[in-house]
Amino acid sequence: MRILVVGSGGREHALVWKIAQSKLCTKLFCAPGNGGISQIAECVEIKADDVSGLLEFARKEKIDLTVVGPEKALSLGIVDEFTKAGLKIFGPDKKAANLEASKVFAKSFMAKHKVPTANFKIFDNPQAAHKYIEEHGAPCVIKADGLAAGKGVVVAKSTEEAKTAVTSMLQDKVFGEAGSKIIVEDCLFGSEVSILVITDSREVLALASAQDHKRIFDHDQGANTGGMGAYSPAPVATFAVLKEVMDKIIYRTIDGLAKDGIKYQGVLYAGIMLTKQGPQALEFNVRFGDPETQAILPRLKTDLVEVMLAASSGKLSKIGALEWDRRVCVCVVCAAAGYPGEYVQGQEILGLEQASHLPAVVVFHAGTKRTKDKFLTSGGRVLGVSGLGNTVQEAIDKAYRAVEKIKFEGMQYRKDIARKAL
Ligand code: AMP
Ligand code: GLY
Repeated sequence: MRILVVGSGGREHALVWKIAQSKLCTKLFCAPGNGGISQIAECVEIKADDVSGLLEFARKEKIDLTVVGPEKALSLGIVDEFTKAGLKIFGPDKKAANLEASKVFAKSFMAKHKVPTANFKIFDNPQAAHKYIEEHGAPCVIKADGLAAGKGVVVAKSTEEAKTAVTSMLQDKVFGEAGSKIIVEDCLFGSEVSILVITDSREVLALASAQDHKRIFDHDQGANTGGMGAYSPAPVATFAVLKEVMDKIIYRTIDGLAKDGIKYQGVLYAGIMLTKQGPQALEFNVRFGDPETQAILPRLKTDLVEVMLAASSGKLSKIGALEWDRRVCVCVVCAAAGYPGEYVQGQEILGLEQASHLPAVVVFHAGTKRTKDKFLTSGGRVLGVSGLGNTVQEAIDKAYRAVEKIKFEGMQYRKDIARKAL
């Protein structure tokens, strides 16, 4: 099979790495890919959101299966276009992608289908939002409706902070149209967990649980990022918790989509807060998580291509249960100086060979490019270094021993990834 992966980050490197191991895969492309990906797939210079460019390429190259990494292409309707052209593609269509592309849509959907989530109200008028915040008090959470590259959520400790966030979104339009509507919702407390499932809109196969580390600094301090590390499984997601999450969040969502006439095939990612009142959905993503994927896929034993083909053909019931490596996987993200703000690029990366040759370690590239004889940094998140171990401590040690072999100017990483799981 000729397979195309769309995207260029650590998540896509993990997808390419796993797909390359499938007995079904005979030729693998990635658009646009990165330095690490170029070692195992042919990278083609088409942007991940250039839907017509990707379609033209897939037609010309007779691609049998396309796998979409990032949300942008999904929300632009890449799945609708490929399906119309008779090409197989793994991911939800444009309507379904609204679960991530519009928080107003997602929250309204959750309310309608009784998916537990924080109480909320939708606003497009700053004065009305300010008044609501004054009446309700802090802490509260302000969310831009549309896609804002992971920056559209403010957890406000004071009413002042909340009102400032409202003004910047609704009045100053810092996120442009993505912030022309906002959600103001109750602040929830508890442990966070990411539950990803694969579905063909009827059958559901849950992936192993994972936990992300969103803040830039140790002990969850500093600005929110795309994710500074992850581990799988998450011990907070016990069997009983997982059952509740599946019953109250995942199945209600899949059933709700079907009732609303929305066909969903692909990955559904639920960001969940485990509160004293039970699990509550914080958000949906309509794709694999980054960096959760770099901690989940190294543990997956089942052939991922078989699963994605089955899901995109409505035949997921043919796949039995997914098989997992019992070991724990910890992924530590190495980021460029300045990230998540303005960051430096073009730094030479040293020690990649030594790190990736360590046993039970995989080094995923996120923002790198390859020149004739070296790798240079080319993004905010540069690498995701994953280590597998029989215990959480062993996986932590494997990952950090590998990280210590790697060097580039200004490299920053959190020292406490997965410590919560100990
Ligand atoms: P989201 O993009 O909706 O997942 O929000 C990003 C992050 O903000 C989440 O991972 C949480 O850490 C935090 N967050 C979002 N909504 C809430 C909430 N209602 N209460 C507390 N924290 C939240
Ligand atoms: N790790 C969070 C995300 O992929 O959105």
